[in-house]
Amino acid sequence: MFTWLQSTKIRVTYTLLKGACVQVNSVIILFSYHHKNTEKIAEVIAKVIGSEIKTPAQTDPSSLANFDLVGFGSGVYYNKFGKELLEVLEKIPQVTGKKAFIFGTSGRGGNGAAKFHRSLKEKLQSKGFTVVGEFHCPGFDTWGPFKIVGGANKGRPNADDLKQAKTFAQSLQKNEPSVLYIE
Ligand SMILES: Cc1cc2nc3c(=O)[nH]c(=O)nc-3n(C[C@H](O)[C@H](O)[C@H](O)COP(=O)(O)O)c2cc1C
Repeated sequence: MFTWLQSTKIRVTYTLLKGACVQVNSVIILFSYHHKNTEKIAEVIAKVIGSEIKTPAQTDPSSLANFDLVGFGSGVYYNKFGKELLEVLEKIPQVTGKKAFIFGTSGRGGNGAAKFHRSLKEKLQSKGFTVVGEFHCPGFDTWGPFKIVGGANKGRPNADDLKQAKTFAQSLQKNEPSVLYIE
């Protein structure tokens, strides 16, 4: 007999499932060497979406087609994302029905970073990926002249940047497109 207890159980299960975020099969390819600024962002995102972080050297480009969602993260060096990361991207075979997201840190940070993202985004789209999210924030920078003054963007990414990275990752998890360029 269908009891009151059973119907309550079904209702509770339905509510829990409705609010739940589906964990997708994901991986993050990360290039971060200057102050490991981008690595801090990668760790926050990886924790939320449950993905492994790999360096370009650890990545077999043809294996990326096995993932539903692939994250590409890097610092900006001479107006570009890391060469090693871009090289992996060049070698990825054409994919269908796969999603990607981009994240990075730079001395410039914020909206000034849009142009760094654009070329990577276009490349991903040409490979067949749908780009579902972008995140960028300032990173501590002691390159060139900034070294003399003790560096720019001291302490970045800071606690607030990491909080925003978490929000970004939660959007990815909920399958909600999100673009966050932080000043
Ligand atoms: C060799 C070098 C070149 C850089 N070139 C740029 C640049 O062109 N534009 C910029 O905004 N930041 C530039 N930066 C600053 C880095 O993008 C910034 O510090 C970033 O957070 C480094 O990320 P990472 O610690 O993950 O490697 C450069 C840093 C280095 C070391």
